[in-house]
Amino acid sequence: MAAIDYVRRDREGALERLKAFLAIPSVSATPEHRDDMQRAAEWLAQRMRESGIEDVRIDDTPGHPVVFGRARAGRQDAPTVLVYGHYDVQPPDPIELWESPPFEPQVRNGAVYARGASDDKGQLLCHVDAAAAYHATDGRMPVNVVYAFEGEEEVGSPSLDDWLREHADELKADLAVISDTAMVSRDQPSLVYGLRGLAYLEVTVSGPNRDLHSGQFGGAVLNPAIALSGIIAALHDEHGRITIPGFYDAVRTLDDEERAALAEVPFDMETFEAATGSAGGWGEEGYTILERLGARPSLDVNGMWSGWTGEGAKTVLPAKAHAKISMRLVPNQDPHQVSEAFRNHIAELAPDRVSVEVTELHGAKPALVDRSSPGMLAAVSAYETGFGKRPVFTLEGGSIPVVASLEEILGLQSVLMGFGLGDDNLHAPNEKFDIDNFHRGTETVIAFLDTLARHGQA
Ligand code: BES
Ligand code: MN
Ligand code: MN
Repeated sequence: MAAIDYVRRDREGALERLKAFLAIPSVSATPEHRDDMQRAAEWLAQRMRESGIEDVRIDDTPGHPVVFGRARAGRQDAPTVLVYGHYDVQPPDPIELWESPPFEPQVRNGAVYARGASDDKGQLLCHVDAAAAYHATDGRMPVNVVYAFEGEEEVGSPSLDDWLREHADELKADLAVISDTAMVSRDQPSLVYGLRGLAYLEVTVSGPNRDLHSGQFGGAVLNPAIALSGIIAALHDEHGRITIPGFYDAVRTLDDEERAALAEVPFDMETFEAATGSAGGWGEEGYTILERLGARPSLDVNGMWSGWTGEGAKTVLPAKAHAKISMRLVPNQDPHQVSEAFRNHIAELAPDRVSVEVTELHGAKPALVDRSSPGMLAAVSAYETGFGKRPVFTLEGGSIPVVASLEEILGLQSVLMGFGLGDDNLHAPNEKFDIDNFHRGTETVIAFLDTLARHGQA
């Protein structure tokens, strides 16, 4: 295919562009990066125009802008694909653990290291580069494509649903495709058919009316940090199950066929232990690690603090104790229902003499897509072209809030065609994107659009 030959000749150029994009610190979470967010949006818009994408616009939102564009097919009756990606990245902290600075992309061991390399700037560029290749060779796209690249995914996409509703007409499509997930390994491509959702809350336990001297009052006043620890400890039972009443009621159970298929997905305990530095795995009894990660909900403490956390000792009985707690949800759990159940359970668990406050931070609905839709079949064949191997189907533990929004607001099913790897260090120091996966990803996108054009979809 001419477009594939084109990207093979342009590999160096593609890598240089990726490095330029990664050098812009588009951190959505912190206000000091507002200008960088704008610069990243402008860089992307410019690169889209250069790639032959038309009607490119930067739409302001109450938060960070959405970059929109459209590339048309030569044929009138061609299907339309909506491509979603996000150009915002996670904060780079803890910065001292990076081997090279997070916004000075460096190539090492066949990968480019920088914040956002895999999540999601590199994967997003595979789609733009595919358009550029069609533009430079055939002069048009095999199918119509609408691009929507947001800048707030890493903060829970607060502006996106309104933007989708406002632009529903322009976003009419037959299916959506998102490259923002990982494959099983370098030589085993995979297609994700389910993502977990999220309910994220903050808990504050209040005890005495101010910090107390722990000698004057210790042993006679209930310490809120101890109360909070007790509450947190009671959230799991000895079988690794979450104790919130009704928590599992809506959980979709796997049938034998699906369990058997998941059991075929390559998984190596030693690699898992090496990747996490944690021996033996942990979790709900009766489920494999891959089932726990993809098909079972989880509850984690993301942060907790109270009293003296600085260097050295300070004898204090703190007035308050805090924890950030998130639950990964699976179909058909609802983030709001789960948050309510959590709130009630915490109130039950809280001992007398402290008061507890729970606030919801953000949430995302879980997602499940049909494995036999024409879009999925086109993606299977596209990976065969791009990676030379048939992909397996996997369930991922992470969340992409837009998947549920695309379905609810635009009626679109998503194909989750990710090119990352499990050890890409997403959200962690030394994030990377494998350069080979980057190039093969672009070829996979080219093949995907071509297959859709030839076999139709929807
Ligand atoms: N790309 C990730 C989600 C992901 C990572 C899916 C790995 C599958 C495998 C995305 O950018 C992300 O980090 N999502 C957040 C969502 C949250 C901020 C609402 C997450 O999962 O924590
Ligand atoms: Mn992402
Ligand atoms: Mn992310």
